[in-house]
Amino acid sequence: MDHATVVVSGTKIAAEIGTTRSEVWRLVQQLRTLGVEIAGHPATGYRLKAVPDLLLPEMLAPLLKGTIFSHIHHYYKIGSTNTQAMESAAAGAPEGSVFLAEEQTAGRGRGTHTWHSARSLGIHCSVILRPPLPPSEALMLSLAAGLAVHDAVRQMDSRIEPDLKWPNDLLVEGKKFCGILAEMNAEATRVRYIVVGIGINVNQTQFPDELRLTATSLRLATGTDWSRLELSAALLKSLDREYQDLLHKLGARDSILRRFQERSSSARGQVVSVEENGGFEGTTAGLDARGFLQVRTGSGVRTVLSGTVRLI
Ligand code: BTN
Repeated sequence: MDHATVVVSGTKIAAEIGTTRSEVWRLVQQLRTLGVEIAGHPATGYRLKAVPDLLLPEMLAPLLKGTIFSHIHHYYKIGSTNTQAMESAAAGAPEGSVFLAEEQTAGRGRGTHTWHSARSLGIHCSVILRPPLPPSEALMLSLAAGLAVHDAVRQMDSRIEPDLKWPNDLLVEGKKFCGILAEMNAEATRVRYIVVGIGINVNQTQFPDELRLTATSLRLATGTDWSRLELSAALLKSLDREYQDLLHKLGARDSILRRFQERSSSARGQVVSVEENGGFEGTTAGLDARGFLQVRTGSGVRTVLSGTVRLI
């Protein structure tokens, strides 16, 4: 806060923005309901104490100029941004629509999992993409989204080295701080739309008992508060780059596979158990050309298609 100690009279603010003192009072009250901390009242003048780290379109849009992300929707509370984005996509919302929520009451994870989404502590973001690709390419896009989160986090704080866990969890110190849920509507040969939903634990200082051993946040990993606004902007810019490269750049798939494996300590040589087809155990042996995880077992190399992979 540059001017946290400056008191400005209602008359001066009214003159500067060309309105009345009573309108300034009304606007101050409105800002307070949005979480902006303003001390004072019409008789004493106003002092800005703290601006909340809200993911408001007015703040985010200027940071995303030149990307596909030009339709930003913000919710204080919603069931799930992925559900909202899937419904909007079905109703014709354009590619590059972004759905951000301060709080989700029914945040969804992969399979039957839920996503704990406490108010204004994490990033809960879903984007609509309409790639001219076959559905078999969706996994590549989902891996690229993990790389985009990795890059964004590193841009903000290069002391942190997130570890990717196939298909697209991000861990730090062995605990998960980000999950990605990619859902699509497709014909056999053509994707109609894909919603990429990204949940990042940013400023949480604690988690419910059932998550305490497995979840962490960037705040817990670094000991400092993070700007959700700056991280969201870095993430969406990075996702835009990955997406453009995947669509237009020769060799983009190889680059995604290579970078994913470089940033993942478990994609190769890690003993895992896989909950798929009755379950099996083995040692990871990298990704195949389509992005599926290979696991070497006693009876040969098996491809993990969608099951949960546990490190043992
Ligand atoms: C997982 O790790 O299982 C995926 C978690 C994905 C959570 C995000 S939060 C934003 C978006 N909305 C949801 O309901 N889920 C995704």
